[in-house]
Amino acid sequence: MLLDTYGRVATDLRVSLTDRCNLRCTYCMPEEGLQWLAKPELLTDDEIVRLVDIAVNELGVEDVRFTGGEPLLRPGLTGIVQRCAELPRRPKLSLTTNGIGLERTAAALRDAGLDRVNVSLDTLDPEVFQRMTRRKRHADVLRGLAAAHEAGLAPVKVNSVLMPGLNDGEAPALLAWAVEHDYELRFIEQMPLDPQHGWQREGMITAADILESLRGRFTLTPEGDEERGSAPAERWVVDGGPHRVGVIASVTRPFCRACDRTRLTADGQVRTCLFATEESDLRGALRAGADDAEIAARWRTAMWGKKAGAGIDDPSFVQPSRPMSAIGG
Ligand code: GTP
Ligand code: 5AD
Ligand code: SF4
Repeated sequence: MLLDTYGRVATDLRVSLTDRCNLRCTYCMPEEGLQWLAKPELLTDDEIVRLVDIAVNELGVEDVRFTGGEPLLRPGLTGIVQRCAELPRRPKLSLTTNGIGLERTAAALRDAGLDRVNVSLDTLDPEVFQRMTRRKRHADVLRGLAAAHEAGLAPVKVNSVLMPGLNDGEAPALLAWAVEHDYELRFIEQMPLDPQHGWQREGMITAADILESLRGRFTLTPEGDEERGSAPAERWVVDGGPHRVGVIASVTRPFCRACDRTRLTADGQVRTCLFATEESDLRGALRAGADDAEIAARWRTAMWGKKAGAGIDDPSFVQPSRPMSAIGG
């Protein structure tokens, strides 16, 4: 079990498969991209499957989410999913993606054993999309979403970050669209994770702003804490149901006390939190020939040191040195 000194148990593993991406969301990356990891630094497919196996069969992990960067850019993704689905204690398998390429891969990923996808989409307007991501790929994302829904990767969730002056007026339209298409929409407060250090507490759109804007058009009824469990999203029933909308308020209403996560970066480092300042090297141990018990022991030790919370809203907060695309979103 992956226990920490605050009594939390990590049962949810997020694995970053690559730090690369085919979009350039302004809150995430500069136009020119980042200093990408070199191929030998990345975990191989075999190393990923072995670490997931150890997490699931020795450490009690139940849910595995593949992230990036953009995980669909990883050539071996379908094979990784399939091998993880064949593990002795099969974990639940999900993917967080920007949706580009999902049109071609959704059915194959489902057949390989993928259970769910979360797709990022911040706007319904192709021009705003281009301004926010610096790429003309809005239609690809919409087709990817439709394919995921068609493939039964349910519930298909959509993640939207609202940025002042860009898409902050779109919350009600996004929710109406999501309800119409049967996607579960979640709004995410922008977090200070961009390498350009463009995040400003004063300017960010808060959960309170989002709810106020939605309440102008919808009746929202809060879901109970019991239904939320350790999920980062707080949810509201929309107009009496059955659809729901979520808000992931990492800044103004952090959920660290219930956190059940452990993370693996694309280069094989364990992180206890998105905002951790330290990492623990599993790739080095793997490549030095460590056995499963040694790797599991290292992972347990790393998680034992997990801090109480991210404290984004504290004056003493320090942004992690790695950007979100390298840590795994
Ligand atoms: P499900 O609710 O199980 O579908 O997954 P999820 O919401 O955890 O996953 P997803 O990858 O869609 O993440 C949505 C948002 O939550 C992203 O912006 C993540 O960065 C943010 N998030 C995920 N994990 C953490 C975390 O450990 N801490 C914080 N503060 N935010 C997180
Ligand atoms: N703050 C909040 N969400 C972010 N994402 C990427 N960078 C940030 C940030 N700085 C979102 C993406 C995607 C999810 C994995 O994380 O839009 O939906
Ligand atoms: Fe790519 Fe996701 Fe970063 Fe956008 S937020 S540039 S989709 S990694």
